[in-house]
Amino acid sequence: MGMDNSKQKTRSAAAVVAAAPVVPPVGEAGVAGADTCAVSVASAESVVPVVPVVDLDHVTKVYTTAAGDTTALNDVSFTVAPGEFVSIMGPSGSGKSTLMNIIGLLDRPTHGVYRLNGHDVDDYDERGLAALRSHEIGFVFQSFNLLPRTSVLKNVILPMEYTGVARAQRRHRAEAALAQVGLPPDLFHHLSNEISGGQMQRVAIARALVNHPSLLLADEPTGNLDTKTGEAVLSMFSELHHEGATIVLITHDLQVARHADRILHIRDGELHEGEFGSDRAPADRASVNRDTDGNSASGGDAA
Ligand SMILES: Nc1ncnc2c1ncn2[C@@H]1O[C@H](COP(=O)(O)OP(=O)(O)OP(=O)(O)O)[C@@H](O)[C@H]1O
Ligand SMILES: [Mg+2]
Repeated sequence: MGMDNSKQKTRSAAAVVAAAPVVPPVGEAGVAGADTCAVSVASAESVVPVVPVVDLDHVTKVYTTAAGDTTALNDVSFTVAPGEFVSIMGPSGSGKSTLMNIIGLLDRPTHGVYRLNGHDVDDYDERGLAALRSHEIGFVFQSFNLLPRTSVLKNVILPMEYTGVARAQRRHRAEAALAQVGLPPDLFHHLSNEISGGQMQRVAIARALVNHPSLLLADEPTGNLDTKTGEAVLSMFSELHHEGATIVLITHDLQVARHADRILHIRDGELHEGEFGSDRAPADRASVNRDTDGNSASGGDAA
């Protein structure tokens, strides 16, 4: 583990300024990011170090079952810089959920290194990982995963009970997050199962934002929504991105993936950068596998 922890990647200050801030501006200052602030911005002309929010370094995931081994991720390397909006798309069985579980600290690589905001997950036990996950990651799922028979407001308050937000602040922050996603205040006291699907997903996004995570991680967030409602949710992701959020969106749908700045394709556990279909092979685009000096090619497409 930690084979090159001291290595700092560099990029131009302009790119960093475009990327900051890491955390969407919900309510007052965050409790989470104080010791994990990932970006240092120097003068506009200088080159400054950037710690990626997501940094996978030759990550392999092998599932071992009675039926044999399955390599679900094969030597995957890529980074997501603060403020980036990245889609990961691929067909069924390609490794999307496996990758999401690793990025979201729900599972660990078999080989390779994963760093979240510079924290090597190998340095954390399960409790530590759960704490890191609560503070750093906001999940948005296809099936919303709200607590049923519980009010909208309570659903958004709950994650703050795990991150030490002062009781007096929780309600205010929850209301601010719900306002940020455009949920009408008269719905705040509805039960979460007594609102529409689009409204449920807004609540889920508010819940994901309320701890001011450094990464919003969405798995098919429009999969259960009609096209129009799905578009509204994707517009919200774009808006959050413009406000500075770092977003990784996992989908099998190119129309959804295109809302991001960058699309990574996964096939048979291997990752490739760029948009490709029948007319464009992944090899035509920049590879995300690291070059010999250890930098990801993914950050080099700024004009
Ligand atoms: N717990 C597991 N044990 C063994 N093999 C697994 C496990 N989870 C996934 N796999 C295998 O790993 C590969 C990648 O699966 P994964 O669930 O990541 O795909 P996916 O891209 O999310 O697919 P889908 O779009 O259908 O959800 C598949 O071959 C799958 O059968
Ligand atoms: Mg899946």
